[in-house]
Amino acid sequence: MITFEGAAKLYPDGTVAVDDLDLTVETGQTTVFVGPSGSGKTTSLRMINRMVEPTGGAVLIDGDDIRGRDPAELRRSIGYVIQQAGLFPHRTVRDNIATVPLLLGWNRSRARARADELMELVGLEPSQAGRYPHQLSGGQQQRVGVARALAADPPILLMDEPFSAVDPVVRASLQDELLRLQADLHKTIVFVTHDIDEAVRLGDRIAVFRPGGRLAQYDTPENLLAAPRDAFVESFVGYDRGVRRLSFFPARDLSLREDVVFGDGTPVTEAAAVARGKGEPWVLVVDGDRMPLGWAAADRLDRAPAGAALGSLDLAPYGHTFDVGADSLRAALDAAVLSPAGRAVGVDSEGRVAGVVTQDDLGTALWSVAE
Ligand SMILES: Nc1ncnc2c1ncn2[C@@H]1O[C@H](COP(=O)(O)OP(=O)(O)O)[C@@H](O)[C@H]1O
Ligand SMILES: [Mg+2]
Repeated sequence: MITFEGAAKLYPDGTVAVDDLDLTVETGQTTVFVGPSGSGKTTSLRMINRMVEPTGGAVLIDGDDIRGRDPAELRRSIGYVIQQAGLFPHRTVRDNIATVPLLLGWNRSRARARADELMELVGLEPSQAGRYPHQLSGGQQQRVGVARALAADPPILLMDEPFSAVDPVVRASLQDELLRLQADLHKTIVFVTHDIDEAVRLGDRIAVFRPGGRLAQYDTPENLLAAPRDAFVESFVGYDRGVRRLSFFPARDLSLREDVVFGDGTPVTEAAAVARGKGEPWVLVVDGDRMPLGWAAADRLDRAPAGAALGSLDLAPYGHTFDVGADSLRAALDAAVLSPAGRAVGVDSEGRVAGVVTQDDLGTALWSVAE
C-alpha cells in the first residue's frame, strides 16, 4: 500500500506542481493517474521513488515514511518504465533487461537466464536478445522497458506514459499485454497517462488530476464514467470521447505554423524579435536539411550573447514528431502533450520539419471534429 499524506510539491519558481495530495494506492492493484498536461501526475509518481522530494506532507509505503529509506535501495525495489523506454542504447536487449539483477549482485548466467525468461513473458522473440534498442520497433522497445522494470521482481511498478509515443494499434496490444501480465503478477502498479481510455482500460482505480496539482476524483472506472463528481471531471471524461475520435481524422488537415521555425544559423536576435512580436513562448530550431534540433524558449533568447546563432544554444528536446501525411490528429495531440514546449513537430515522410502545431490549435481542431 502506498499512501500520500498531504503530499505537496512547490517549486522555487512558485509553481505548485502537487497540492495537498491524499491518496491510497492499494497493494496488488493498478492505479492510474490521469489528467491534462501539467496537472502534477509525473511529479506525484516520482515522489514514490524519491526522484522528487515533497516540500510538504509525506509518502508512505506499507505505513513507513519513505524518507527513512536509502533512495538507491528504494529505487531498486521499484520498477520504473517511462515513455520511449529509456533504454541504454549501447547495451543489447538482454543486457538492458539484466541491468538491475546485475546491480543487485546476481551472477551473469543467472541474470541472463532471468532476462530470457522475461523476454518470453513480455512477448519478445528470443532472437532479439542480442539486438540493440535502435534495431527494434517502438512497441518492442516498450516491451523491453517493461521487462527491465520487472527483472528483479519488484513489488511496485511505476509507469509514466509508457505507451503514449507508439501508434494506437501497437498501444492497444501493449495494453492487452499489461493486463495479461498483471493478472498473473499482481504488482502494485501506478500508471500515468493523459488518455482517459487507457485509464479506464487498465485501472482498478483512477485518480483524476486537475490543473494546479489537485486531485479531482479518485474512483473505480465505472463510477468515474457514471458519476463524475464535478464539471471538470465530466468535461475531462467527455473531452476524451472526442480524443478517441481524433484517431479517425488525418493530421494533414491541420494548419501548421512555419513562422516559428528557424535554421540553426539564424541570429538569436532575429528569432527573439519574431517570437516577441507574435507572443510565442517557443521557437523550433532545425538544421540545414530541416531536420529538427530542438526548442528554444523565447525568454532565453533575450538573454543569449549578442551575435550568437540559434544552433549554439542549449535546446529542449523536440520530443516525438508526427508524420503530417500519414498520422492522425490523435498522434499530433499526443506529440504536443508530451512535448516540453506543449507543441508538436509535424514532419514529412523523410523526417523533415513541415511546421509546428500548438495544443491550442489542436484543441480547436478537436472541438471542430467533436461536433
Ligand atoms: N523542475 C521544475 N521546476 C519548476 N516547475 C516544474 C518542474 N517540474 C515540473 N514543473 C511544473 O510542475 C507542474 C506539474 O508537472 P508534471 O508533474 O510534470 O505534470 P504532468 O505529468 O501531469 O504533465 C507543471 O506546471 C510543470 O511545468
Ligand atoms: Mg507527465
